[in-house]
Amino acid sequence: MIKLGVNVDHVATIRQARMTYEPDPVTAAGLADLGGADVITIHLREDRRHIQDRDLDLLRETVFTKLNLEMATSQEIVDIALKLKPAQITLVPEKRQEITTEGGLSVTTQKKMLTDLIKRFKDNDIYVSLFIDPDKDQIIASSDVGAQSIELHTGSYANAESEEQSTKLLKILNEAVGIAQNQGLRVNAGHGLTYKNTGPVVEQLDIEELHIGHSIVSRAIFVGIEAAVREMKDLIYKHYMIKQSL
Ligand code: PXP
Repeated sequence: MIKLGVNVDHVATIRQARMTYEPDPVTAAGLADLGGADVITIHLREDRRHIQDRDLDLLRETVFTKLNLEMATSQEIVDIALKLKPAQITLVPEKRQEITTEGGLSVTTQKKMLTDLIKRFKDNDIYVSLFIDPDKDQIIASSDVGAQSIELHTGSYANAESEEQSTKLLKILNEAVGIAQNQGLRVNAGHGLTYKNTGPVVEQLDIEELHIGHSIVSRAIFVGIEAAVREMKDLIYKHYMIKQSL
């Protein structure tokens, strides 16, 4: 079965809007766990716009499924990650001005730095994934630098404005999955996925983990986070079973 990673950054975004103590992403992670989340994802950004160091420490203590830390490659964040030792890190590009992570990591232009960095993480028993666009050169470079897994950026697919465009973008993602698997990489996917556009991803792509945040947290405002996570799990299960029957 495809696993569901729930990104709880968006809960922290609401808290930081008032610089207060609620809503707590740590509570959200516990409730997401009850709803069936297989992975809890957080992004410790250099500007600390949502997740704070305190959240990271508490989540490290309380997440018993799998904690996936999205992070940039800056020295400060690398030091924190190596000390904290989450089960998995996903390296992402980070720009201060962006609203969310806008594009995939450029692996091809940073091969030496990434090779050294990934080795340090792997030597510390931290599983390394790279968030990249569905691009052949980036996928091959990800394998070259020693990543164990990639997360394919689904943002373009999610933003498709016609069925024709989304079919074309799914095909590109599907080819990317094949290239990655041939390189021995495990494949995750995420960004911009919703209750409306996740079904085709499940049916057509051979993915291990789907990482979803904004849509689940948005629904959670109305139905609660445990129910919102369960609904996404059920949706993934339903489409996975359709795929099995094809
Ligand atoms: N994967 C990565 C690497 C991300 O940066 C994000 C956004 O934090 C997500 C997945 C989840 O994206 P969304 O919030 O659009 O579901």
